[in-house]
Amino acid sequence: MSEMTHDLARVVGELKAGQPVAIPTETVYGLAAIASQEAAVARVYACKQRPRNHPLILHVSLKFDLKRWVKQIPPEAVMLMNTFWPGPLTLVFERNPAHVLDCVTGGQTTVAIRCPAHPLTQAVLDAVGEPLVMPSANPFGKVSPTTAEHVQTSFQTLPLLILEGGRCAVGIESTIVSVLDGAMGQVLRPGSISADTIAQCLGKKPQGKTTARVSGGLQQHYQPNTPVTAFHDFKALLAAYKRCKKPVFILAFQDVPDLDPAYFFHLSQHPDEVAFALFHQLRRADALGVAAIYVQLPPDKATWAGVYDRMMKAAFLHV
Ligand code: TXA
Ligand code: MG
Repeated sequence: MSEMTHDLARVVGELKAGQPVAIPTETVYGLAAIASQEAAVARVYACKQRPRNHPLILHVSLKFDLKRWVKQIPPEAVMLMNTFWPGPLTLVFERNPAHVLDCVTGGQTTVAIRCPAHPLTQAVLDAVGEPLVMPSANPFGKVSPTTAEHVQTSFQTLPLLILEGGRCAVGIESTIVSVLDGAMGQVLRPGSISADTIAQCLGKKPQGKTTARVSGGLQQHYQPNTPVTAFHDFKALLAAYKRCKKPVFILAFQDVPDLDPAYFFHLSQHPDEVAFALFHQLRRADALGVAAIYVQLPPDKATWAGVYDRMMKAAFLHV
């Protein structure tokens, strides 16, 4: 059985002893291990049942010297770090193989690095004194957790320690941006910081194409247990709801007549608010034991890209 705690010293002790611990960040809860401990990193992959070639993000404290983990720090990376760190932005650099283990990067020549803003994450990083790997604290392919209770539900049989830190403020995983030569400024995984905001900060559009592997890049990824259908068109959603004889949970930008409010979540016009709510509501729907979840997609625009991506990947059907 997993256990929740507020005891930072205990969390740090477990990490140093090579045990993965779930800890909060401002995006989602992560399953942390010390990045230089190969056996601990292996345990993280095993807990998540994650394929070994899906690289992990190195999470660093603001105090760490990045030069240890990356080959070079391009000026564009400095601009992005100055603007968005600490925060929900992950940057992909050329890796320094001397100090980053193969098991962290899935054997790639690059390394993804993020400096999280959550004060508890920073407190753990400072106390450990080394970077942590931290995939989202959910079994591979499932919805990321935004509360400590979600982590507990996801890993019911594991003896996992969970640092209680309330609900995550962002609600979806960080934006991943390449700062590699030939792929400068490319968004590899959309998040709450949009591609337009990145391009604005850099004063130029992204370059080239990258072949980097991103696990969120799989067609289906952030799936709840209940099947999700994503609708571009609200009328099609209503028609499907009327045809369905079983209980359905609906997330939509418009009201659905005659639907029990317990089975409805009204999506706001603000991408940040929807990001905050999305995974939380998908899990709520799962807990209600409905037969299906219907979501209305937002416009396919840069400001909505993070939410749009998570909804499309949560769905097994797109209408
Ligand atoms: O917000 C977040 O990023 C959360 C919190 C816990 O920090 N973490 C997270 O980790 O989402 P994870 O493992 O669930 O997703 C990491 C993503 C994967 O899609 C992986 O493929 C990509 O980062 N990634 C890691 N290293 C990479 C690299 N060198 N090049 C390209 N993508 C990389
Ligand atoms: Mg994940």
